[in-house]
Amino acid sequence: MVVAINYKTDEERAAMRRSGRIVGQILAELRALIKPGITTRELDAYAESRARAMGAEPAFKGYRNYPASLCASVNEVIIHGIPSNRVLREGDIVGLDFGVLFEGFYGDAAVTCPVGRVDEKAEALIAASEAAFFEGLERLRDGGRISDISHAIQSCVETRGFSVIRDFVGHGIGRALHEEPQIPNFGAPGRGPIIRKGLTLAIEPMIAAGRPEVEILSDGWTACTRDRSLASHFEHTVALTENGPEILSLPDLTDVPRKPGEEKPYA
Ligand code: MF3
Ligand code: CO
Repeated sequence: MVVAINYKTDEERAAMRRSGRIVGQILAELRALIKPGITTRELDAYAESRARAMGAEPAFKGYRNYPASLCASVNEVIIHGIPSNRVLREGDIVGLDFGVLFEGFYGDAAVTCPVGRVDEKAEALIAASEAAFFEGLERLRDGGRISDISHAIQSCVETRGFSVIRDFVGHGIGRALHEEPQIPNFGAPGRGPIIRKGLTLAIEPMIAAGRPEVEILSDGWTACTRDRSLASHFEHTVALTENGPEILSLPDLTDVPRKPGEEKPYA
């Protein structure tokens, strides 16, 4: 199959960094808000209003009729949890997935956060999803193949005794939220499109403490583990540059436009 990949110029990557940093900043702020007693709807409202205050459009709202700006996925929910009046409790884990459209480019990132103190297994699961992302990112090398990323993620997760969700993939990103190529989080290395400078991806391991089978709830969105084991999701928008991989969705707003005279942007 011929896959049309939109490689980005340095200028386009700079624009994607601006979108990405808005997402990274908002996720960092959401993480700081998480404590027992807050509802996922409050987090959604915060994310949407912060994005709009920065001149960005929430990317998920209305996407295939998704009803919110944030995905908030609690415990056995892997992804696409719809914000609600659900109250977060001590010991829960919650995946926050957020995206924006800013000046023509999308940014997309996710983090799984503990609510108060969580047990060791939950901590290890979250750590494994983060470690798997970084293992994958390390395979973002000129001349490599997309499935090198997939394989690195799977090895990392399974070595730690967890399983990889197979029903969802990472993706190219840019002027569209989802571009080619797809990035499965499992598989043999050395397959798929060749990795070149200018490639921009959302690398997003989704993993479970138990079995990897997925069930979609009757709302048509909520994806949870069929065995109801805990799940964790971690995602960044990244690019391959001349100097290696760059994470575009970090919480650093230094090169995001600010109002004249403002010391710190959006503080
Ligand atoms: N991060 C998810 C993705 O990459 C979010 C999109 S879900 C939707 O697909 F809510 F927007 F539909
Ligand atoms: Co994504």
